[in-house]
Amino acid sequence: MEVIVTEDVGVAAADALAPALRPGGVVGLATGSSPLPVYRELIRRHRAGRVDFTGVRAFLLDEYLGLPEGHPQSYRSVIRREFTDHVGLSDVRGPDGDTADADRAAARYEAEIEAAGGIDVQLLGIGTDGHIGFNEPTSSLRSRTRVKTLTAQTRSDNARFFEAPDTVPHHVLTQGLGTIGEARRVVLVASGSAKAAAVAAAVEGPLSAFCPASVLQWHPEATVILDEAAAGRLRLLDYYRSVQDHKPT
Ligand code: F6R
Repeated sequence: MEVIVTEDVGVAAADALAPALRPGGVVGLATGSSPLPVYRELIRRHRAGRVDFTGVRAFLLDEYLGLPEGHPQSYRSVIRREFTDHVGLSDVRGPDGDTADADRAAARYEAEIEAAGGIDVQLLGIGTDGHIGFNEPTSSLRSRTRVKTLTAQTRSDNARFFEAPDTVPHHVLTQGLGTIGEARRVVLVASGSAKAAAVAAAVEGPLSAFCPASVLQWHPEATVILDEAAAGRLRLLDYYRSVQDHKPT
């Protein structure tokens, strides 16, 4: 894994996404707070004429089950509001959380990703429990898009987006760890000390379904972009800095 520690997570991650921002390029987008600086930076570059989203296709990582598509907290609404509407990216797909047949919706979503030729660059956040997408601890390391039940910790972490904690859905449709692992490049962003333990487990801990993000240790093109606080519990922090400072030419 490449570990980048920076005070501008948004700029570093926008640079990492750039190769997929071309006609026919396929990006994987995350929701939640972590990617917001990345989206702000991409909107800024778009307004400055530095990046063009014409012909780019996007796939979301996950979706709450049971929220109608127009619900303000459905991830398909969130991504339009926070990012894609601002850059003219209209080909945005997500798992269909508003369905009576979630298994079928999951299989259809896998087929859509495959038909698009797979994901060029997948942007990821990380949960305080080590999840990526909504692959909670003990998720199969080879899982595909499917229904998952959120942990109490994740529902509590995400309660800030909902009117009341008990209105956070219990279930989601999420790309599996196997699905995410097929993206040609993965870029995980994390900010703040609340993520430091999960980041350390993902980067330096054993490969384990108990920390689902640790599966990225298998990925040949995984970049982890952190602010100082999120990097705060990495044992080899000095080494990552020296790698950053002395890139081979
Ligand atoms: C969201 C997603 C989740 C979040 C994670 C961190 O689409 O897949 O894995 O990235 O829960 O959430 P934030 O960034 O809000 O701390």
